[in-house]
Amino acid sequence: MHIDILTIFPEMFHGVFSQSIIKRSREKDLVTIRMIDIRDFATNKHKRVDDYQYGGGAGMVMMIEPISACIEHLQKEKTYDDIIFMTPDGELFDQQAANRHSLQNNIMILCGHYKGIDERIREHYITKEISVGDYVLSGGEVAAMAFTDAVVRLIPGVLNDETSALSDSFQDGMLSAPVYTRPSEFRGMRVPDVLLSGNDKEIENWRLQKAIERTHERRPGLMDKE
Ligand code: ADE
Repeated sequence: MHIDILTIFPEMFHGVFSQSIIKRSREKDLVTIRMIDIRDFATNKHKRVDDYQYGGGAGMVMMIEPISACIEHLQKEKTYDDIIFMTPDGELFDQQAANRHSLQNNIMILCGHYKGIDERIREHYITKEISVGDYVLSGGEVAAMAFTDAVVRLIPGVLNDETSALSDSFQDGMLSAPVYTRPSEFRGMRVPDVLLSGNDKEIENWRLQKAIERTHERRPGLMDKE
């Protein structure tokens, strides 16, 4: 898989993408990720990427020229399965969407800032708009990191134990069962006996039961989602 992220803050990604699972999947060449600085495509004197909005109002708007130049430059090199714009008014991102995107080859992600991006970009280039939650972030970068992390870990071969992605919360429409590690007792708090029993069938039943209870308690409605 290849992911191109268009941003005016490429440095924001360096820490997150050079640690843990994303780091390993990049090293194994299971994914290539590039951060592309939109400012490099600004042709005006001061490399400006934003301007006042027509009609007045507070907040600057990201200009069409540098973004369109950047997108068209990349499109000469690759065909993208999706050109995604991160925005709070996009489709809510969930595990099913992560699964679908993990099957794609080339993804472009555009991160917005300020008051937004010129609407003509959304109309002419963007194939999908994604929100990571009903709250407003300062820009699309943190959303793009969340999207990338959720998608990359699903690429076959990225996780050492492939079943661990399958037993993630949400993967079967349920939250995960609680997990414990040593010691078996800490200040009187004991790990449930069944987990120490060695009885695989009983452990499996217990985990399923706990996952159902937790899902009903915390996220009623999640199991009705198709
Ligand atoms: N940009 C700002 N807020 C966002 C959100 N909630 N999801 C995706 N992109 C965003």
